[in-house]
Amino acid sequence: MDILCRSLAACFDWGPATWPKSMLELVAVIANKVTLRVQDPGKLLPRGEAQWAETIRRVLNDSSTDFATGQKAALPELMAELHQGHVWVLEKTGKPFGEIKTMNPDGENTFIVGDHRGFDSQTQLTLDDHSIYRISIGKRSYLSSHCIAAIISKFERMVV
Ligand SMILES: C[S@@+](CC[C@H](N)C(=O)[O-])C[C@H]1O[C@@H](n2cnc3c(N)ncnc32)[C@H](O)[C@@H]1O
Repeated sequence: MDILCRSLAACFDWGPATWPKSMLELVAVIANKVTLRVQDPGKLLPRGEAQWAETIRRVLNDSSTDFATGQKAALPELMAELHQGHVWVLEKTGKPFGEIKTMNPDGENTFIVGDHRGFDSQTQLTLDDHSIYRISIGKRSYLSSHCIAAIISKFERMVV
């Protein structure tokens, strides 16, 4: 829960400097059962991790908010929705971000990031099944929230 709250704050609060928040979405697969989908909260932006936690709790208790919804779906169902060519997995040992020539900031890109344990074996299998390309933002292991902010920042620099 802490990691998800921090990641949401990175995505919609402190992460983007110039990237339009309306063009960001964070989708979290929780316990491989529920998918939480969050879009730009606009003026309703939860402040701090405690407010994000309250938002998540409301959605998990079956009440959507204006900017967050939940559905019973796990990663395999979610993968079926994504456009394969633009889905990337973030992994320390992947190919360096700067060497990826096919990254297109004008298109729709999805980045899959693990939690504090990385990815469990079932998730790894799903990612392997879909042959998702693994990319790295550095040799050190960063927090998930840091990775989200770093990717947004890289995209901001690509469109300057
Ligand atoms: C705290 S890390 C997970 C650490 C976990 N012990 C592991 O070995 O995977 C959380 C997630 O951030 C992403 N991540 C962390 N460092 C990264 C890096 N240098 N490049 C790309 N993604 C990274 C990965 O998706 C990872 O699953």
